[in-house]
Amino acid sequence: ARITLRQLLDHAAEQGYAVPAFNISNMEQGLAIMAAAQACNAPVILQASRGARAYAGDRVLARLIDGLTEMYPDIPVCMHLDHGNDLATCATAIQNGFTSVMMDGSLRADGKTPADYAYNVAVTRQVVGMAHACGVSVEGELGVLGSLETGMGDQEDGHGATEKLSEHQLLTDPAEAARFVAETGVDALAIAMGTSHGAYKFTRKPDGAILAMHVIEEIHRRLPNTHLVMHGSSSVPEDLQAIINAHGGDIKPTWGVPVEEIQRGIRSGVRKVNIDTDNRLAMTAAIRRALVEDPAEFDPRKYLKPAMAMMTEVCKARFDAFGTSGHA
Ligand code: G3H
Ligand code: 13P
Ligand code: NA
Ligand code: ZN
Repeated sequence: ARITLRQLLDHAAEQGYAVPAFNISNMEQGLAIMAAAQACNAPVILQASRGARAYAGDRVLARLIDGLTEMYPDIPVCMHLDHGNDLATCATAIQNGFTSVMMDGSLRADGKTPADYAYNVAVTRQVVGMAHACGVSVEGELGVLGSLETGMGDQEDGHGATEKLSEHQLLTDPAEAARFVAETGVDALAIAMGTSHGAYKFTRKPDGAILAMHVIEEIHRRLPNTHLVMHGSSSVPEDLQAIINAHGGDIKPTWGVPVEEIQRGIRSGVRKVNIDTDNRLAMTAAIRRALVEDPAEFDPRKYLKPAMAMMTEVCKARFDAFGTSGHA
């Protein structure tokens, strides 16, 4: 059954767990996630980025969600827009059946340039007004995702400005967070504390200097009733890196966000944990291995099945680690 982000995270807060938000852009990812949710009896957030919506097409994506929720009627599913960049993107997501939208006003509408506080509040408030009128939840973001090791934002495409971000941009300010939530009325708040999207988050196992979990704890002290969201929260498992590299891949040495750090966040109000990269790595590891092990095979189902199975294992591990299991 479909559920809003607010309904889901209110329950998670009451019971002290978090819900993983897994990105999808195709059927195999959707089937893999739902198989894991069913096996763990866990509610789940499926999220689609603008890129995912363009890849699959809104019509196909909307019917895919219909199909998945009908296939698993007992699993609460929140369908969420990941990193909406303006009012129109959020509006069309709602028209396509999304029960939750993210308005990421930490960046300008180009999805790259850091925005100022006034712009962020104005655009987020506008989305909250529209979405709440439709019974849809809203996630906002304050602070810019990026590396405390390099000072670079993760939206850098190599063609734009290469200006370093300040620590004030890379770490959400707790006092400003309290103001932002009061001024916008968001249902959940994404914060910046040193994570970035993709596989290359940290050059070493992160400690408090480069993964600032204390910022989450301070924000939770000020905003005990606000549902917090961690982006860029893939753990980038070493075993998946190794399978990829053993079968012709080239993942450079890297570290992600350790699961125990996420668990620490969950003790401090984190209720939604965004994961895309780990599932991409799982599918790619299984596909690379299947193709290398049987080079004569050319039926896509023969490598997509193990890819789904490996992704399901990653999702099950996250449901168990975040305490989501058993709460469907
Ligand atoms: O925000 C990042 C998510 O991993 C989605 O990535 O924009 O390549 O679909 P994407
Ligand atoms: P990862 O790249 O760490 O999986 O982060 C995904 C994310 O934050 C999507 O919004
Ligand atoms: Na999101
Ligand atoms: Zn994100």
